[in-house]
Amino acid sequence: MASGGRVTSLSRLHFGRNWAACRNYCRKFCTVRKHDVNSHRPFLCHPNSYCTFRTIKQHILCSQHCGEAWLQPNSRPTSTDQEHKSAVSSPYKLVAEDLSTLCNDIKKELSPSPAELKLLSQYHFDGKGKAFRPMVVMLAAKACNIHYHQHPTNNALLASQRVVAFIAEMIHTASLIHDDVIDLAATRRGRPSVQEAWGQRNAILAGNFIMSAACVALARIRNTEVIKILSQVLEDLVSGEFMQLGSKEDEDERFNHYLQKTYKKTASLLANSCKAVAVLSGCDESSIEQVYQYGRNIGIAFQLVDDLLDFISTEQLMGKPTAADLKLGLATAPVLFAAHQSNGIAHTKFLAEQHSNEAIKQISMLFPSDERNALITLTHNVLHRLK
Ligand code: FPP
Ligand code: MG
Repeated sequence: MASGGRVTSLSRLHFGRNWAACRNYCRKFCTVRKHDVNSHRPFLCHPNSYCTFRTIKQHILCSQHCGEAWLQPNSRPTSTDQEHKSAVSSPYKLVAEDLSTLCNDIKKELSPSPAELKLLSQYHFDGKGKAFRPMVVMLAAKACNIHYHQHPTNNALLASQRVVAFIAEMIHTASLIHDDVIDLAATRRGRPSVQEAWGQRNAILAGNFIMSAACVALARIRNTEVIKILSQVLEDLVSGEFMQLGSKEDEDERFNHYLQKTYKKTASLLANSCKAVAVLSGCDESSIEQVYQYGRNIGIAFQLVDDLLDFISTEQLMGKPTAADLKLGLATAPVLFAAHQSNGIAHTKFLAEQHSNEAIKQISMLFPSDERNALITLTHNVLHRLK
């Protein structure tokens, strides 16, 4: 059998963009479901099938090879993807107007600061981010308002829900600025990170400042339940990041540790922000729980895909360093699965799909609306995103 390295270089050198030939070659090396092989998506290897490579190093190389092959065809939408897109509500369009003021709203919260701190803390609020979290929170808020009134026209955001949406973006951005200090990352969103541009001490202060401004905005909502819900996110973020610094000796405990860390580091913000807007909508307890579970599951799926992309994508495409987890010695899902002699990429993808399906199941219990359907569409976008 050829080594993993040979597979990678052979595919690059000999097949280029000739996917049919690459697919046949790939077939020899990966045990994949027939229809996945035919659509040339080795990424979707059946979770119960085993990659022919046996060592972690070989798995990683093989995964990179498979991932690379998966990225390209997926970036060209198939007719089924297009049909799906036109048949469902566009998540972005439904909240475009509300999102258009997001950066300005945040900048206002950050303006009572010394000039340089203002510059640093406003650096990432330039409208170029994905605004994924505020988009989810706004859609969840609208879907909850409709659910509460049991009528599709009652979808306007409440002022307090709008504040929760921008607080979610502020918390997220502050945590990334701190994360880049911890990870020593030089780039973020395709340009120098705050720590690269202004140094670590300034970056820590900028993150702290954004976080404290978010707390001031939160207190202004004057709802103790919402304050409690969003304060939990801050605790989770720090303990999740701290958990990431350590691991477990015992192999079985290691995966639970990873999943718990994933919830705290990423999913808690989405889950609890969704919960906060559900509370503000006046929805009943069980609907609040369903919206929370939607956020929790899409959040876990999002981080699993993030860990995959860190593994297989490029810095150019992502706008931030890739293979960062491996370099930092962090065992994320692709490596943890590979350590169990299974196809790390396929298993991670499968797990992300399971969480995405659970998110769909939970949100489908709300009153039907375009916003609710858009939240379902977002679960697909999370699974198939390339950056
Ligand atoms: C990105 O991780 C990091 C996070 C999602 C959270 C980081 C949290 C902290 C640093 C704690 C600080 C918290 C507060 C309240 C200020 P990643 O490195 O996997 O993702 P990346 O590839 O985008 O860097
Ligand atoms: Mg990082």
